Amino acid sequence: MSNQSPKRIIPIKLERKTSLSADDQKAVHDSCARLKALPGALLPILHDVQSALGFVPKDAVVIIAHELNLSRAEIHGVISFYHYFRTEKPGRHVVQLCRAEACQSVGAVALEAYAKRTLGIDFHGTTADGAVTLEAVYCLGNCALGPSAMVDGRLQGRVSPERFDALIAAARQPS
Ligand code: FES
Repeated sequence: MSNQSPKRIIPIKLERKTSLSADDQKAVHDSCARLKALPGALLPILHDVQSALGFVPKDAVVIIAHELNLSRAEIHGVISFYHYFRTEKPGRHVVQLCRAEACQSVGAVALEAYAKRTLGIDFHGTTADGAVTLEAVYCLGNCALGPSAMVDGRLQGRVSPERFDALIAAARQPS
């Protein structure tokens, strides 16, 4: 007969590691608490989280999935369907170029090529210095004044390459 004492099982609570700060976790929980009773709550929550954090981090998806009783795959499906949502932290400035038809007819294609070349990034990319993130949008409601762009939420019309350079230079100025 063994004289070893029986093994004791010590319950431990495993905390899941998260990349979110305490403030960011609170922001996501607050969005869910405020909006989850709405019909189709997922989209308003994703908008709210992106507005608060600048993007929808993967660890925010974990919280949202838990709160809405959805799978992470379902949420990722929605995020990837809408160009608007970002899953990576953006640069200090976000430049959105319109790719819709009216702007394309007045030079948006050439502007897009110019922007990508001069910034050295593709859509959804951020410059190496973290200053500028480039994104595509599909009509900014400024069709008569294309090519149109949105720089840090401010609408810009008739964006020539020269004007694009000026907008980027102004955005990069220290505030
Ligand atoms: S098509 Fe570009 S603003 Fe409408």
